Amino acid sequence: MSDFPKGLTKVFIGSDHAGFELKQKLIERFQKLVIFEDCGTNSTESCDYPVFAKAVSEKVLKSPGALGLLICGTGIGMSIAANKVKGIRAACVSEAFSAKMAREHNDAQILCLGARVIGEEKAAESFKAFLDAKLDTTNPRHQRRIELMKEMEK
Ligand code: RB5
Repeated sequence: MSDFPKGLTKVFIGSDHAGFELKQKLIERFQKLVIFEDCGTNSTESCDYPVFAKAVSEKVLKSPGALGLLICGTGIGMSIAANKVKGIRAACVSEAFSAKMAREHNDAQILCLGARVIGEEKAAESFKAFLDAKLDTTNPRHQRRIELMKEMEK
């Protein structure tokens, strides 16, 4: 359930230099479908992905219903860094099916993409699948597994 106007989902988006151009393209493509808050970076100048992973993760945790989108060269650094923030479940994917499953089975709040791995079309498809999916509550096994992961954070 979104806390934001018109039922639009708030999406905190961030990238490093390697993901900057794809971030700008996805903002352009999806700006009418979601409310983006751009957490940087703002150029292709070299920078450190954990800074942006942390910023986006902390904002997602403070905004119920919000999602995150993090882009670096591979998506891997962003996902490793975001998953170090307690309460975050970040999924690094390269196609739409995994993006959908990340929400339906894992209740991931953050999608991580690799700009050097997939092109704009696959990235857009993956993000759209992530946006459109929600946790599958029809079977308690997913929630049970998520609770087991939460236990690991204690
Ligand atoms: C930057 O060169 C690159 O290491 C970074 O974007 C990312 O792919 C790390 O996981």
